[in-house]
Amino acid sequence: MAQRPYIVGNWKMNGTRAMLSEARAIDRAAQRHMKVEVAVAPPFTLIHAVHREAEQIGVGAQDCHPGEDGAHTGDISASMLADAGAKFVILGHSERRTAHGESNDLVKSKAQAALEAGMRVIMCCGEDEKTRNSGKAEKFVLDQLRASLPEMDNAEERLTVAYEPIWAIGTGNTATVEDIEAMHKAIRGLLVELFGEEQGAEVRILYGGSVKPDNAREILSAEEVGGALVGGASLTADSFMGIALAA
Ligand code: G3P
Repeated sequence: MAQRPYIVGNWKMNGTRAMLSEARAIDRAAQRHMKVEVAVAPPFTLIHAVHREAEQIGVGAQDCHPGEDGAHTGDISASMLADAGAKFVILGHSERRTAHGESNDLVKSKAQAALEAGMRVIMCCGEDEKTRNSGKAEKFVLDQLRASLPEMDNAEERLTVAYEPIWAIGTGNTATVEDIEAMHKAIRGLLVELFGEEQGAEVRILYGGSVKPDNAREILSAEEVGGALVGGASLTADSFMGIALAA
């Protein structure tokens, strides 16, 4: 069954309670345009408030600790995030893999914790500019994704993949439609290899990296693009819904 385009806002380390007005505006707009599935991942501090104030849009988290509740000062467990209203967790984002030295194994264990807490997982993958220019981007991304995906029965039913070329994040430079399609088709091939023809075909593959209202239609109409993971342009309802309505 064809799934709705999935447009997810990753607010990153942005958002005070003043941002709740944007969440409400996104929620109102999303209720008028049900042909697209809209979600936001605010900072931890706003998850519960956005969950309570925005009924239509999905609310998620940008990370989780891989372990159970307990003596982990400053960390937040998957079950705590689910309790706060998070329905998904973005994991493997290049900003965490790079700035926090997150290995594929750590990302995988976080994904398993998120699934065990009943949430969905948006698994990020993507290459840096040097790898892209070396012609080894596809092998790098598939190896990274294969090593990061959770090993759980039916994990694919709650899995979304986000391809985010690192050199396109926050730069205003998106990948070309040809490169996006080539990488998404390669990722689709891996998903089918891992989960079978039917289940592997169901997993939505989002593109992320400088998606804006003026380039969204072209990107979202590309083959094997099931939506977008949006950073900067998700911080205002106008620009974020400008992307969602292009789907
Ligand atoms: O997770 C989405 C993000 O990495 C993309 O950021 O600002 O290029 O849309 P941006």
